Amino acid sequence: MNTFQPTIRRLESIDSTNLEAMRQAKAGAPEGLCVVAREQTHGRGRLERTWQSPKDAGLYFSIVLRPKFELGRWPLIGLMSALAVSDALAKTFNLQTDIKWPNDVCVNERKLSGILAETVETNLGMAAIVGIGINLKQADFSAELKSSATSVEEAAGATPNGDMMLDNLLGALAQRYDVLQSNDGAEHTIREWCAHSSYAYDRKVRVTLNQEVFEGTTRGLESDGALRVETEEGRIRIVRAGDVHALRATAASWFSSPAPDIQAFREGLLDMVAQIASGGAEVDGGFNGILSMWFEDYWSHNSKHLVRDGVINESEYVILNRFSETFRAAYPTGHYASPDMQTLQKDPAWQSVVGAAKEAERELRELLETEMTGTSN
Ligand code: BTN
Repeated sequence: MNTFQPTIRRLESIDSTNLEAMRQAKAGAPEGLCVVAREQTHGRGRLERTWQSPKDAGLYFSIVLRPKFELGRWPLIGLMSALAVSDALAKTFNLQTDIKWPNDVCVNERKLSGILAETVETNLGMAAIVGIGINLKQADFSAELKSSATSVEEAAGATPNGDMMLDNLLGALAQRYDVLQSNDGAEHTIREWCAHSSYAYDRKVRVTLNQEVFEGTTRGLESDGALRVETEEGRIRIVRAGDVHALRATAASWFSSPAPDIQAFREGLLDMVAQIASGGAEVDGGFNGILSMWFEDYWSHNSKHLVRDGVINESEYVILNRFSETFRAAYPTGHYASPDMQTLQKDPAWQSVVGAAKEAERELRELLETEMTGTSN
């Protein structure tokens, strides 16, 4: 086995730890050289993007690997690194994460860590550079990033210890790399990736490949880690590059089905509001089922179609909107997160949501009774 011995080189500031690791690899650095910087002035992301890297707000880390296995297995290096990040986040901060294809590590659908795996020709043969960025603190993310990114600080609700994270990350990388190098390492890594990703199977996604955009349902990975996506025409497309975004169910999609069950939808909405009013919720930060469909449309200013299509009446719409506004005021990003129910229930923001749900439930039931008895005062 070819397990690396980590040697850590710490820097105050650098253009990009990946670029520095490449320079070191070209100068003959052995496998296991790690470059860590407190800030990056030109942090690089996948698909020529930049990676915002303010001082001490994240872990910015790159490692030089010199794999001996066949080139066909190299694309799996990014996937095994995402597994290692996921292991280390669980060990260090008790965080449960999801991997979005190919190697974004997310909590509640928001990105906590990104990985840029690259290759470089050196006198000692081709080397792989794995660059890992982990958002530790809630830095001044741009408005665009705010809705799609999160940090350990936000997700774990604790001040992160970057050194402990780095230690655990190196341990996890060594283990996952060992596995990838073993005889059935490729199959094992793919199985593990699928077990750690909600994107592996049956997820409705939109794929952006250069200028092309298409939608489909995920159907597992190819042996080199490419994502299999089945289009609506039943064709399997193999995605090796590009961006993949989950498509969430919306109320609009419910009602575009051939025989939408309007009554089930209305009852479902009331049930969900009643569930929150009685203090019940998922602690993982999102609503499930029909209420989440309503919210998806509400968030995109698209819920009025429910009135136009006669699913709910104007009064129900006003009640649901009022409840949603309270929720949005309490959680502007659309997500709440809490380690457990007790903590959530003590959160004043959550208490305001429960109060609004109680009010909405009472008003919705009143309307229902009026509809049934035909009286009103
Ligand atoms: C992505 O998700 O687009 C990949 C982001 C990778 C960022 C890390 S930070 C450390 C290393 N140095 C870089 O310039 N990029 C990677």
